[in-house]
Amino acid sequence: MDYLEIKGGNPLKGEVRISGSKNAVLPILAATLLTDERCVIRGIPDLSDVKHMAKILQTLGAEVELESGTITVQAKSINPFGDYDIIRKMRGSVCIMGPLLGRLHEAKVSMPGGCVIGARPINLHLWGFKSLGAQIDLKEGYVIAKAPQLEGCSIFMGGRNGSTVLGTANVMMAAVLAKGQTVIEYAACEPEVKDLADFLIKMGADIKGAGSPTIRIRGVEKLHGAEHTVIPDRIEAATYAIAAAATDGEVTLLNSEPNHIQAILHQLRQANVSCTVSGKEVTIKRKGELRPVSIATQPYPGFPTDAQAQLMALMTQARGISIITERIFESRFMHVPELGRLGAHIELEGVSAIVEGGFELQGAHVMSSDLRASAALVIAGMVAKSTTIISRIYHLDRGYEKMDVKLRKLGADIGRWSSEPSNPNYRPVPPSLAQFVE
Ligand code: EPZ
Repeated sequence: MDYLEIKGGNPLKGEVRISGSKNAVLPILAATLLTDERCVIRGIPDLSDVKHMAKILQTLGAEVELESGTITVQAKSINPFGDYDIIRKMRGSVCIMGPLLGRLHEAKVSMPGGCVIGARPINLHLWGFKSLGAQIDLKEGYVIAKAPQLEGCSIFMGGRNGSTVLGTANVMMAAVLAKGQTVIEYAACEPEVKDLADFLIKMGADIKGAGSPTIRIRGVEKLHGAEHTVIPDRIEAATYAIAAAATDGEVTLLNSEPNHIQAILHQLRQANVSCTVSGKEVTIKRKGELRPVSIATQPYPGFPTDAQAQLMALMTQARGISIITERIFESRFMHVPELGRLGAHIELEGVSAIVEGGFELQGAHVMSSDLRASAALVIAGMVAKSTTIISRIYHLDRGYEKMDVKLRKLGADIGRWSSEPSNPNYRPVPPSLAQFVE
């Protein structure tokens, strides 16, 4: 099993190129199922989740080629049944339902499981499909949707915690080939939803208002192939911006989309960090002592839940009290006890974490639990004195392209090793920590 070894104390300096957005790529790859013609998607990040989605498309019968950052998909003839185990392993795979229903009028996928951050229900997805006229059955762990003909209508897609990103994507993809007009009310406004709509429009779909809370879709007969380059990953950009501030360095983000990270830049500026925007570049540099900030996560354009853990790692260094409230997912604080192992003073109070910042962090062994918690541990490890070992970094590989390589280029003292003696990257962990790294 791979692990990261980080010797803290190096300020990050230099430039980092932001990769394509994981959360834009996944629904866009699903959307290629809506046509039997060839689609070419560029700006693809090298991530395990992307490879997983490519595999899912292949199991459905599509021809898929992944070649250095470009994916070519041709879904000439596909079947509506997704492989139970492959689909169950990744939450994002739920977004194949919409295109299967839209094109084949049938979809059978395994119920996406929950994960460490929450139950991840799909009731809103199913509500949207039902509203379009689909019959929904749950059988032996499968969700089966059938509709002889999808009829456009007005659908309110707001849930207990607000809008749903993949729910909006799924319903939009089911509606593009439905009869008549569909209006999605309380649609998610995330840039990834807009990027999906831009791709669908290139395929010939008639969509207006994507990126706003009301999306209007007029069904068309057929969609054709298209080419598209995905937007930069705003959460990766947020992660490197926060890491630059945490290590008291100076980093320029290249190929970013500053408009997509306004909430992050605003909080960094409040925390006494300068964020200079010039076109697609943002330069991050601390102006002096960090100031504590308090946030609550919200749907876009509010502060993104996917950057909550990373901000918390930064706030461990801001003298004073920061209150970080998680309003999107019910258990997205798995990083708190691990940050505690590094010496952070954080107390959980319901949906809020109270961070008492300004204490020095000390290296230790910590364990990744999910994608963004792992990023927070990397940031804290780069700040902590002495050595930090982070195990289970397969979580990190899901959403960050070659993170250790990018950080080394910025001056971090970080190595990626393997705890398996047969692996060429084998490097025995310090005996005191060996028991932890499986
Ligand atoms: C997307 O997940 C992202 N994943 C998540 O990123 C992100 O955290 C999330 O949106 C919120 O921004 C991808 O795009 C692949 P939601 P999604 O439906 O669409 C509730 C990462 O780290 N809800 O917007 O699955 C849900 O429980 C990942 O990159 C329902 O109640 O999230 C949550 O409380 C993690 N019923 C809230 O809505 C539903 O049917 C928002 O979830 C659907 C969702």
